[in-house]
Amino acid sequence: MEDKQQNQPKRRGRPKKDPNAPKSAYHISRAERARRETQKRVRAAKKRAEKTTKVAEKKRHYARKLQQTASKVEKAINGTGSAVLEQSDLDILPKSVRDLVGDSDVIFKPNPGPQEQFLSASERDVLYGGAAGGGKSFALLADPLRYCHNPNHRGLLLRRTLDELTELIDKSRQLYTKAFPGAKFRESKSTWHFPSGATIWFTYLDKDKDVTRFQGQAFNWIGIDEITQYPTPYVWDYLRSRLRSTDPELQQHLYMRCTANPGGVGGWWVKKTYIDGVEPNKRYPAFDIDTGKSYVWPPGHEKAGQPLFFRKFVPARLTDNPYLMADGQYEAMLRSLPEVERKRLLEGDWDVAEGAAFPEFSRVRHVVEPYDLPTNWPRIRAADYGYASPSCVLWGAIDWDNNIWVYRELYAKHLTAEELADKILEAEQLDPLPHYTVLDSSCWNKTGFGPSIAETMMRAGVRWTPSDRNRLQGKMEVHRRLADDPYTNEPRLRIFSSCQNIIKQLAGIPLSKTNSEDVDTRSEDHAYDALRYMVMTRMSGYASIHKQLGAIKNQVFQVQDETFGY
Ligand SMILES: Nc1ncnc2c1ncn2[C@@H]1O[C@H](COP(=O)(O)OP(=O)(O)OP(=O)(O)O)[C@@H](O)[C@H]1O
Ligand SMILES: [Mg+2]
Repeated sequence: MEDKQQNQPKRRGRPKKDPNAPKSAYHISRAERARRETQKRVRAAKKRAEKTTKVAEKKRHYARKLQQTASKVEKAINGTGSAVLEQSDLDILPKSVRDLVGDSDVIFKPNPGPQEQFLSASERDVLYGGAAGGGKSFALLADPLRYCHNPNHRGLLLRRTLDELTELIDKSRQLYTKAFPGAKFRESKSTWHFPSGATIWFTYLDKDKDVTRFQGQAFNWIGIDEITQYPTPYVWDYLRSRLRSTDPELQQHLYMRCTANPGGVGGWWVKKTYIDGVEPNKRYPAFDIDTGKSYVWPPGHEKAGQPLFFRKFVPARLTDNPYLMADGQYEAMLRSLPEVERKRLLEGDWDVAEGAAFPEFSRVRHVVEPYDLPTNWPRIRAADYGYASPSCVLWGAIDWDNNIWVYRELYAKHLTAEELADKILEAEQLDPLPHYTVLDSSCWNKTGFGPSIAETMMRAGVRWTPSDRNRLQGKMEVHRRLADDPYTNEPRLRIFSSCQNIIKQLAGIPLSKTNSEDVDTRSEDHAYDALRYMVMTRMSGYASIHKQLGAIKNQVFQVQDETFGY
């Protein structure tokens, strides 16, 4: 029987299924298997293609760079014009050509380290900031030269005052004529003209309102030396709108470049934009400094959700500038400065505030974590109004020892008086009614018959009384509040950690350079002003009067008890 079975011819085709065999959990058809296999191969092929494209792109980039460098070298050797030859240019050339050109033809060689990193940064917006003498301004002058072979290159170099600008122009004379022998500086227009037709305009801008001088103009490179001299980001923001070019090459190279020492009237916003929470020398998506939100392409755009552009912070160190470090004289000078100055200018420390108006303010002593305030502590609301500049509203509670606890802040730009009133009412929904409300007294000013800002808010249901505008007394009262109460050994003013703007301003607001009794009004001071109005109200004495009344009442009850024997 066995033999018979073995001798039978083999059956062709699919073997019959064994009805007793266990059923597999997944049945994958042959077609499905084939489809999956094909998908796998397609994926692998795609990956290979991507890799090859990347390599090709790198090679193309290298070839382009080599071509550009070769043409620069050709010009330099033939004397048919000039070009900026940097060390990075030479590095890319074959050794034979490098030897031919020689080191003497290198007009500008960046110092290794931060200066090199600043000059090679490809991000749209870069700050080169830190120690004095690190080579920041020199690098800023050299940076736009790399596009001066292009006739459409338009550069703009800015400083705050004319004197400071003159210093930069003098330095540019040494560098620019060497790099481009035909380059001429036209004094009347304060502009460098290069043989190709490219231009770099050196100008100064002191007042925000003067930005209209740049209206309708376009630049593919904008540099601002000592950006912290601008008290607010207004000029820097406006100039970003002028950054454009119709030249295809330059469109790929639109750059904002700034330099700064730490501190200064604008130290607060520069620090917030480029330094706080950012890793140095690493690109990060640009964000709105008011909201902290990254700028991204809107929904529906092919790049939806991706960053609009990137920023970078390159920290400057004196030790990286061999031209000033060589004999140690400059370093010795910086080391002899008072501590705060030394930290800023030698160590490039952004955390120390120059000439702080409230050096006694301490995050440890004056800032507390939010907690539920007793509802019977009298409430006080104070505000400074602005539309283009921010409005600030602060809410405080007064405890029975007459200490103020600032527990909420509202800080926003571009709100009309009515909109601000709505926001205040919304914020106060669950609060006890404020006992005292005080607003910048200039909000009652009127130029015609129309309603004033204060009136508009009152009509919307938010009542106010005008503030005491005496700046010096207000500052003295803030000092008194920051000091400890001798009885409790606690400060008379505490701020909830959620009130970021008032904390930041008390910590960083500098003294005025012209009036050492007052703060520098050019720095951001809206939250400080609101606090000044708050501490200058009669309300701050209200709680203690209340307490004294309570004590008197208790005494009366006691006397009644004793007299009438209740
Ligand atoms: N790459 C360089 N090649 C030649 N000289 C350089 C270079 N970098 C800096 N220097 C020299 O160092 C000097 C100081 O540099 P620079 O004025 O740029 O410093 P800075 O960081 O702007 O200082 P400050 O913070 O005081 O403004 C320059 O005047 C220049 O002579
Ligand atoms: Mg400088």
